[in-house]
Amino acid sequence: MSIRRTALVALMGSMVFAVVAVVHGHAAEPLLQPRAKAAADQGAEIAALKAEIERIKGMLPDQSHVMKDVAYHFSNLWFAGQAQNWPLAAFYLNETRSHLRWAVRVRPTRRTSAGDIDLAGILDGMDRSLLTTLQQAIDAKDAAAFGALGR
Ligand code: HEM
Repeated sequence: MSIRRTALVALMGSMVFAVVAVVHGHAAEPLLQPRAKAAADQGAEIAALKAEIERIKGMLPDQSHVMKDVAYHFSNLWFAGQAQNWPLAAFYLNETRSHLRWAVRVRPTRRTSAGDIDLAGILDGMDRSLLTTLQQAIDAKDAAAFGALGR
C-alpha cells in the first residue's frame, strides 16, 4: 500500500470514528451536561416540595377539630350576650365567624352518598341570617332581641 493510500485510509477511519462519537453522544456530552443537571436539580426540588407539603398537611387540624373551636366561641357568645357584655359578645361573634370560615377552608365540600355538599353555601346562608341578626342585636345592645335568638 502506498503512503498516500495509507494516509487516506487513516483519515477516513478517524472521520468514521468522529461521526460515531457524535451519534453516541460523546462529543455532545459537554453540551447536554448543564441541561441534565438542571433537570435533576428541578426534580430534586419538586420532590423536596412534595415532602414539605405532606409534612404541612400532617399539621393541619381536621374539620371536626375546627368545629369544636366554633362551638367554644359560639357558647361564649351566648354567655356574653346573657351578661349583656356587648364588647365581649362582639368579640366572640367575630371569632365564631372567622372559625366557621376556617372550617370551610379546611374542607370546602363534603362528599355524601346523596352527593356533594357545598359548605361555603351553607355558611353564607347562616352568616346572612342568624349571624347577621346576632350582630344587629349586639350593635343595638338589645338583650331581648339577643335572648330571643337563643330560644
Ligand atoms: C355556630 C354554628 C355552628 C356550631 C356551634 C357548630 C358546631 C359543631 C360541632 C360541635 C360539631 C361536632 C364536632 C365534633 O365533635 O366532631 C360540628 C360538626 C360539623 N359542622 Fe358545625 N357548627 C356550626 C355551624 C356549621 C356550619 C355553618 C357548617 C357548614 C358550613 C358546619 C359544618 C359542620 C360539619 C361538616 C361537621 C362535621 C365535621 C366532621 O366531623 O368532620 N357547621 N359542628
